[in-house]
Amino acid sequence: MVPNLVLRLFLIGVLASEIWTQDRPGSLSSECLGSLLRVALNAEYFEDKYLIFAVVDQFGTAQEIDETLAAQCGYTIEYNYWGNIEFRASIISCYTHIESDVYTLTVQIQAANNPDMKNALTHLKIVSCPYSPWHPRELVCETNYMEVSVRRNVPQITADVLQDEPEDWALAFPEATAGAVSIWQVVFHLPTGRKALLASDAQNAGYGLNTTDTRILLRAPYNATEAQLVKVRGVTFSAVRASTFYKQRWMILMVDTAVACPIDGMEYTDDTIIWTIPKNLQTLSAGATSFNDLLVEIGVDLHKLSAREIASRKYVLSNNTDEITIQMPIGAEGGYYKTHVSEGQHGTKYYINLFLEHQWEDNRWGVTKHTIIKKIETPFKLVPPTITNNTNSSIRLVNVTVGTFLPDVELVNLTIDDTTVTVPEALQHGYKVYETRYPNGSKGYIIETPFDVPSIKKEYLTEDTRLYTLNVTLGFIVQPTHETFTVPVITISPVKDAVLPSARGFCDDDNLYLTVIHGNVDQNWLPFISNLSLSSDAAQKHNYGLDDNGTHLTIRVPLYAPHVLYEEIHPSGITASLHLTMKDNTHADMIDFSISCRFSPKELIDCLPNGTMVITALKLAGITDLDTSLFVLRDKQCRPVSVTEKSATFIFNMNTCGTSRKFEDTVMTYENEVSYFRPGSTTPIYQLKCACQYIINETIVVQYSSRNNPAPSVEPGFGSLALTLRLFKDQSYSDSYVEIEYPVVKYLKEALYFEVELLHSEDPQLELYLEDCWATTSQDRDSSPQWSIITDSCENAEDSHQTIFHKVDSDSRVKFPTHLKRFEVKMFTFMQDGNALLEQIYFHCSVVICDARRPASDLLCARRCIPRKQRLGRSVEAYHMHGHVSSGAVLMKSK
Ligand SMILES: *[C@@H]1O[C@H](CO)[C@@H](O)[C@H](O)[C@H]1NC(C)=O
Ligand SMILES: *[C@@H]1O[C@H](CO)[C@@H](O)[C@H](O)[C@H]1NC(C)=O
Ligand SMILES: *[C@@H]1O[C@H](CO)[C@@H](O)[C@H](O)[C@H]1NC(C)=O
Ligand SMILES: *[C@@H]1O[C@H](CO)[C@@H](O)[C@H](O)[C@H]1NC(C)=O
Ligand SMILES: *[C@@H]1O[C@H](CO)[C@@H](O)[C@H](O)[C@H]1NC(C)=O
Ligand SMILES: *[C@@H]1O[C@H](CO)[C@@H](O)[C@H](O)[C@H]1NC(C)=O
Ligand SMILES: *[C@@H]1O[C@H](CO)[C@@H](O)[C@H](O)[C@H]1NC(C)=O
Ligand SMILES: *[C@@H]1O[C@H](CO)[C@@H](O)[C@H](O)[C@H]1NC(C)=O
Ligand SMILES: *[C@@H]1O[C@H](CO)[C@@H](O)[C@H](O)[C@H]1NC(C)=O
Repeated sequence: MVPNLVLRLFLIGVLASEIWTQDRPGSLSSECLGSLLRVALNAEYFEDKYLIFAVVDQFGTAQEIDETLAAQCGYTIEYNYWGNIEFRASIISCYTHIESDVYTLTVQIQAANNPDMKNALTHLKIVSCPYSPWHPRELVCETNYMEVSVRRNVPQITADVLQDEPEDWALAFPEATAGAVSIWQVVFHLPTGRKALLASDAQNAGYGLNTTDTRILLRAPYNATEAQLVKVRGVTFSAVRASTFYKQRWMILMVDTAVACPIDGMEYTDDTIIWTIPKNLQTLSAGATSFNDLLVEIGVDLHKLSAREIASRKYVLSNNTDEITIQMPIGAEGGYYKTHVSEGQHGTKYYINLFLEHQWEDNRWGVTKHTIIKKIETPFKLVPPTITNNTNSSIRLVNVTVGTFLPDVELVNLTIDDTTVTVPEALQHGYKVYETRYPNGSKGYIIETPFDVPSIKKEYLTEDTRLYTLNVTLGFIVQPTHETFTVPVITISPVKDAVLPSARGFCDDDNLYLTVIHGNVDQNWLPFISNLSLSSDAAQKHNYGLDDNGTHLTIRVPLYAPHVLYEEIHPSGITASLHLTMKDNTHADMIDFSISCRFSPKELIDCLPNGTMVITALKLAGITDLDTSLFVLRDKQCRPVSVTEKSATFIFNMNTCGTSRKFEDTVMTYENEVSYFRPGSTTPIYQLKCACQYIINETIVVQYSSRNNPAPSVEPGFGSLALTLRLFKDQSYSDSYVEIEYPVVKYLKEALYFEVELLHSEDPQLELYLEDCWATTSQDRDSSPQWSIITDSCENAEDSHQTIFHKVDSDSRVKFPTHLKRFEVKMFTFMQDGNALLEQIYFHCSVVICDARRPASDLLCARRCIPRKQRLGRSVEAYHMHGHVSSGAVLMKSK
């Protein structure tokens, strides 16, 4: 049923401002269908109009039809979902004009655009239908009423009937003489007994009673109070059993006016409708002893179907003694589908108006014609929408067909990214939506949208593949019932067009830089180093630079930042690296980049001239969870003076902390190492060897190296030792000539007091020895002529120029006497061609610095005066180093 439409149809109209028209051509059409007549309203004229139906009586007055009148008088108004409206009337309806077997009815239909029926157009249709012959008894089961008409002269009131219903007579007789109308009284047979109603009372109760020249008629609504529900072989009938009394030529006659109409008997399988109608109903054949089937016919929309039509529509009509069964496929010709929505999902029902005509003969009634009109509505059947994906990745177009829908479904809106837009508005979002019709009348909707619209979600799948996800929800409305439903449409198309971000990096003196060139998959990826999001506050606190200009993301991280890893420590510096991870919004790692640079920082090792070593040990990338405060030197008592999370700094004198010394020809090396032991372990997991190499008179070069765990070893750092050869004013060695006093002027044979000193060193284990000392006339110590002063640590013993060593004691100026040597020579001059060269003289010494603790193992350090040849050929491990020192110029004073 369609309640809202029914309401509209029975509006009480105001018949003011009527515009009468004569039956506009084409707006109404009529048909005679046996004992029914039909007026069809052309949807084109009447769709969406407010309608009032009326019939015109014999006085020309329009009698408006409401629901009660319809059931009482034999009118039916039916509205189907496609907008088709039909009006049906029993051929013997209340206002039918009968003239010699021609039945004429004048139907009036008012149509207006508004419910107030203003400016309504009135359509009139006069329908005349012949109908003959009448069968002795005709029953019609319309959708809204049951009707029986019986030939007046049948049955004869015979003795057996009188016997059958004696009480009817008893009840009716006293009144019979007083009644004036044709039909006088109706006696209903109820299970509880009999109930007599005067004709006027029956009419007030909704019954239709009338007579024609030949027939007597009873019409009852299905819900009539006296209607009984009777079950016959499982099928329920609504039945009214009544005896109708009428006066005819001063005779009171009674006729049995029983009617029964099935109200169920429908069964539905997935694809079939089965309608069962039991035969030979007791209600209708009371008093009969024979039953003879004459005819079973079926039809659709009141049109009978031939056997061939029945077969071609694949209906199956089966008929046995007890019942008639009609099976028809759902969707067969003659019916129609309609979309409905149940629990938010759309589906269909199939509708068909069937009718059955059954004729039989029995020995009481003669021939009975029973016409049953059945509006069939199948149960709701879910129709899951089909989504066909015609996406074409080569033209980068999502193309989806959503269907199939009946023509009563209309797409009204699309929800894209939580925004609902109408179909035309969707175009502005890049969604082209249009309808496509299929040959069978159904339709689908095609949605086309380029891959590149923002609402197509792009996701990175693999190195070369992106997923394009269309996610729209379509909103539909069903006409004319205005039911709504939605269909989510999600398609995912993998396309090999992913461009991963790439990166390049570089370093300057203090920072590592990574520039990520965005690809097309990383819009929502976030840069992390370790587990630190670079966009977090923490990253800002660390002064990490982050700049994204849309195409490039540049990151700057300082060398000593906590997130920089030190991978290796090389002779030329350290290798530091920065690892960047791009994570997606689920925090899954998507891609890693790293930059590794070598730095030559000065601050990692410092070899101070006074023998202090400053070492900064850095945590290496390979060893995590290392507590830098637990770094130790060889002497495990020596701990860092300061630590950071990633480094430990040691400052110690080379005489301490287990530092060892090594001498090579011109180089002295101090060595120590920084180690890390896991608690309880004696094997270090980290060992960084550090060395300071000292050379004399060379510029300081810092070197530092390590290899990775477990035993990083070290190349030395370099330091320089400074030596001086100074001239003192007297034997007290308290007052030396300062730089501006050079050249110092001395008389021939005047004593010169020289002191050679190892400057700055605080290492008491070092002892300085003079190997050779000599004088030259130029600054170049290798120039000729040369005059020896000390040779192989032995004094020049020549009488006149005897070299004299002076003992050194500690005093306020001398902290480590072993770092000094003093000697005295007499001023002399070089002779050339028998003449004294009155030129300035330069003094030079070659110096040996020895490990004072190991004099015995190094002959050079062991003795002060050993002739060179005795030392030759001795291959002993060296505990000394060589150096040279020169004095400023000394000039002889001429008399
Ligand atoms: C009875 O039938 C006659 C003739 O068809 C008609 O004129 C009359 O209006 C009907 N009366 C009722 C109450 O239906
Ligand atoms: C039958 O239904 C109609 C319409 O719904 C109503 O007006 C009428 O009172 C009902 N009759 C009975 C007897 O229930
Ligand atoms: C229906 O079946 C009955 C027997 O049950 C038979 O007499 C009658 O002719 C059949 N009618 C048709 C139309 O098949
Ligand atoms: C989208 O698919 C439909 C159905 O296959 C097709 O008719 C239409 O041409 C396609 N659109 C484009 C732009 O290819
Ligand atoms: C589609 O969009 C809706 C609403 O925006 C969201 O809830 C849902 O998770 C999305 N589905 C997919 C597969 O992306
Ligand atoms: C979109 O259409 C659906 C289905 O017809 C409806 O329920 C919904 O209210 C509509 N939304 C908007 C915002 O119009
Ligand atoms: C849709 O079609 C595209 C292109 O043919 C295909 O790659 C993709 O897998 C399809 N998606 C779905 C959900 O069927
Ligand atoms: C972004 O920065 C890079 C260098 O970092 C530059 O090459 C590029 O042109 C910049 N792009 C824009 C859109 O400014
Ligand atoms: C060595 O020199 C440094 C810096 O000049 C100084 O801090 C340190 O105390 C000195 N070491 C010794 C043992 O004098």
